[in-house]
Amino acid sequence: MNSGDPVPEAWRSQVSEVMIGSADIATRLNDLAADISADYMALNPVLVVVLKGSFIFASDLSRALTIPHEVEFMRAKSYQGVSTTGVVQIEGIDLTKLIDRHVIIIEDIIDTGLTLNRIYAKVQSAGVASVKTCVLLEKMGQQRRRDVPFFDYVAFHVPEKFVVGYGLDMDQTLRHLPFIGVYKN
Ligand code: XMP
Ligand code: MG
Repeated sequence: MNSGDPVPEAWRSQVSEVMIGSADIATRLNDLAADISADYMALNPVLVVVLKGSFIFASDLSRALTIPHEVEFMRAKSYQGVSTTGVVQIEGIDLTKLIDRHVIIIEDIIDTGLTLNRIYAKVQSAGVASVKTCVLLEKMGQQRRRDVPFFDYVAFHVPEKFVVGYGLDMDQTLRHLPFIGVYKN
């Protein structure tokens, strides 16, 4: 399936548009994996996958890499209150496993950048050899924070629409769509 193809009948009530088709995702991921494989040759990096949204992206990316690497998982829970500095709680990973390792954080989507900013700081303070970030989607909007670390690898830049599929959910549904679609409000 290509970007812009008609939304399959089964999802037409919930999805208005195929923003990025499965064929385009696969092509882009192969390029991204080639870049990462070249950059991390002989470094045996650890992919730190931020669940749940990154699970499909990470599994495809991991299989497209041509270098040895390891995979770890974490959960990040955001609690955004009235203040602009939200708190992000990290769970499910033993950070001591990352000591002296070359870490690549795998995240599904960047909106304000707050979540990845917090994860990045936590990982960096864990005594790693290096840390870079790899994101599937970066939303191009006004609310993007300027205090976020540079995103080293970005698969796609997308407009500010709520997207689902390929791991991304609407209240835990639609993660399994093989394409990235725009959610119908
Ligand atoms: P921040 O603002 O911290 O937000 O960069 C990143 C987190 O917000 C969620 N998010 C989305 N989830 N479709 C989704 O399914 C979207 O369009 C979307 N935009 C933001 C996501 O959990 C991400 O980790
Ligand atoms: Mg997420």
